[in-house]
Amino acid sequence: MKKSVFSGVRPTGRLHIGNYLGAGKNYVALQDEYDCVYCIVDLHALTTLEDTDKLQGNIYEALLDLLAAGLDPQKSVIFVQSHVPEINELFSLLSMVTPLSWLLRVPTFKEKARIHPQNVNYGLVGYPVLMAADILLYKADVVPVGEDQLPHLELTREIVRRFNEHFGETFPEPQAKLTNFPLVVGLDGKDKMSKSLGNHIELAATAEETAKKVMSAVTDPARRLRSDPGHPEVCNVFKLRRHFEAECMTQVETDCRDAKIGCVDCKRALAEAINRDLAPLRARRAELAADPKYVRQVMLDGAQRAQIIAKRTLNEVRSKMGLI
Ligand code: TRP
Repeated sequence: MKKSVFSGVRPTGRLHIGNYLGAGKNYVALQDEYDCVYCIVDLHALTTLEDTDKLQGNIYEALLDLLAAGLDPQKSVIFVQSHVPEINELFSLLSMVTPLSWLLRVPTFKEKARIHPQNVNYGLVGYPVLMAADILLYKADVVPVGEDQLPHLELTREIVRRFNEHFGETFPEPQAKLTNFPLVVGLDGKDKMSKSLGNHIELAATAEETAKKVMSAVTDPARRLRSDPGHPEVCNVFKLRRHFEAECMTQVETDCRDAKIGCVDCKRALAEAINRDLAPLRARRAELAADPKYVRQVMLDGAQRAQIIAKRTLNEVRSKMGLI
């Protein structure tokens, strides 16, 4: 039997190339080797109560990007978290075996509580329990995530151990699977690529928008003149090029150090490489966007298939916990 994979994507709207290199590509690659369940986690988005009027649009855009990137509804279950309401019951049952002290020491919780002290709600403290419920409802063996999610996964494993100890062997302990490119730095060359910082390129951007964004990117700050030697190891354009044209990077590195190429040349090459790489994805996205009925159907079918698994797990949990 194939092992199972589960991962969740927060619906923050269109995905950018950081999400794609860090997660999306990996999701696509896992589809043949594993039974994959991919979920757009709208309930998690509610823990911070941002932009709820945009939520439906954001879910739809994220789904378009994932499908365009190559998630295949014939191979994987792709659905929206709240469309399978069984999640809420497992979330509540798992909360009974999760000590509050475990949740209060989770780094993402402490960070969010520090940034938004006026919005430390019960749901926010429970974020990792909801995430554990996602993973466990589908009894996932493997969870592809970025490094920032490792504490959440560790907590899931602790919940599993406690649950299994109390109620008998029920859930496998899920393993994290880190992507090869866990961190993609944004165009500012400082922070992780992120929509909220505006240092990103959307997958769905046009070739012109991509070129414009790339031309604004920060390169090696020590290189003022075209004739100055470059330092590719500190240059973000260089790092981004490696993701898109790995084959010629030894030459680029030498040419940059010898000042044979300038930063403008390099950015032009990066924009071209991104546009070349993403052209098929963008074409698929345009086709999907022209067929909203199909996209909605994918979402409904996904929820139906997910619910079959969810019901089975939940029945087992209810019975083990003495509810039936
Ligand atoms: N917390 C994850 C993030 O912020 C999203 C997520 C929710 C998730 N449930 C999950 C990831 C289950 C992996 C498995 O990116």
